[in-house]
Formats: sequence, structure tokens, C-alpha cells
Amino acid sequence: MLQSPIRSLKPGTLEPALFTERPKSETAKRVHKYFETSGFSRWSAIYGSGDIPPIWKVIRDGHQRLVEKVVEWVTTEPLHTALDAGCGTGTLAVNLADHGFEVDAFDVSAPMVHFAKYINSGRTKGLAPQFMVGDIAALAGQEKTYDLVCCLDVLFHYPYEEVSDMLRRLTSLSSHKVVASFALRTAANDFWMGVGQRFHTKNRMTKLFMFTYDEVEQILYRAGFRITRKHRVKFFFYDSFVFEAVRM
Ligand SMILES: C[S@@+](CC[C@H](N)C(=O)[O-])C[C@H]1O[C@@H](n2cnc3c(N)ncnc32)[C@H](O)[C@@H]1O
Repeated sequence: MLQSPIRSLKPGTLEPALFTERPKSETAKRVHKYFETSGFSRWSAIYGSGDIPPIWKVIRDGHQRLVEKVVEWVTTEPLHTALDAGCGTGTLAVNLADHGFEVDAFDVSAPMVHFAKYINSGRTKGLAPQFMVGDIAALAGQEKTYDLVCCLDVLFHYPYEEVSDMLRRLTSLSSHKVVASFALRTAANDFWMGVGQRFHTKNRMTKLFMFTYDEVEQILYRAGFRITRKHRVKFFFYDSFVFEAVRM
């Protein structure tokens, strides 16, 4: 399993142009702690290329399909700048940089950000992404905006009110397009989640929150965005619903 070369780093200071200090919700405290500890080891291995258990490999392969779909969408028109929110180990950020984007990327987990910097240094054909530590819920004003704002496989860690606020902040930083994924609420997914919960321990650090398409569409509409493309990546149990929305 991959390990960060810099295990002892404390969460970094926030980039003042993008973030402000904000109190954290109980969910946020749990999610942040998870991705700075056991979640970091797990997800950095999943997003890497080393040997992993078959069940994690399903997530790796499903996620790869998601990234490929997003890159296909966003390279059909000339966009120049991108923000990748909750960038993890930088898979999408580096892909975008390879396609000529100037990318800022941030993640709330300091180990994740330092790992992204470490594994991706010198890897892209284009300009290296600027990786920084930051929280979507603390994104502030619009000193800087981007042609494209992305947020993949992050929102399903948070309940509706928090996702609504996060999407409002993310859209406010986009001059044109937002691409994000979420977990789609369907009768079948509700059923399987109920089954799954019976086998999970009570002290899980993260929980999956699902939303209907209409709920997400409404949040975006209120922010002045209209969904122009949507796609569901379903690969065994990996299930991520991604949309592209543009400013109206
Ligand atoms: C499942 S991973 C997805 C990583 C990346 N987006 C990708 O698709 O490769 C979720 C990531 O979201 C980050 N994250 C969770 N909550 C966040 C928040 N409030 N702000 C920024 N990053 C967050 C985690 O630290 C973790 O790296």
C-alpha cells in the first residue's frame, strides 16, 4: 500500500484568496479526520497503480471511467483555467493539466495534498497543477474565477444542506462550467444502502448521502446554472452520477 512520504504534516494554512476560516459541522469534522488518517491510506492506494484488494480495484476502475468521461466532456471546447475541489491524489487535476488547463487543485486532507504534490511532480505534459489544502465549505469570495470548476466523488460525504452550500460556493467560482458527481438516490440504491448498513459497524467515520437528480438540478438552478450533460458510471457496486452544468 502506498504511504505518504511526509506522514507528520499538520493541516496547512488556507490560501487567503480562496478560503476563509469557518466553523466545521460534525459531519465535516469526521470526514476531514478520516481523510487525514485511515482514509488517506485507503484512497491513495485505490487511486494509485499498485496491487490492491479486488473490491478496491472495482472502485479504481469505476473512478477511471468517471475521469475519462469528464475529460472527454471538458476538452470539447477551449477552456483554459480549472479548479479541482477535493482533488485527492490529483488524478483529474493532472489529466486536465495534460490537456493544457492551468489547474488549481485543493483538498481538505493535508496528507492527500502533499502526496498529490509528491507523486505528480514532473508528471504532467502541461503546466503543473497548484495543489493546496482547503475546504470546499470554506471557499470564499470570487477574487479569482475559473472557466471550469470540478468536484468528483466528494459531495456524497455530506448531507443535503451542506452540499447545497458547497455547490453554491463552487458555482460562484466558475465563470462558465461546473462538473461534479454525486450519489444518485434511486429505490434500488436505497434498498442496497439499507442492506449495507446492517453490516457496517456503528462507528464508521463516513456515511454515504444520496440525492435525487431534481434536488441537484434545483440547487444549480438557484445558483444560475443549467445541467447540459449527465452520465451515470455504474461499474459493479461503483455508482457515481456526474453532471456538467453551464452558467445561464
Ligand atoms: C473519494 S476522494 C475523491 C478524490 C478526487 N476528487 C478524485 O475523484 O480522484 C474524496 C476526497 O475529497 C476530499 N474532501 C472531503 N471533504 C472535503 C472538503 N470539504 N473540502 C475539500 N476536500 C474534501 C477528501 O479529503 C478526499 O481526498
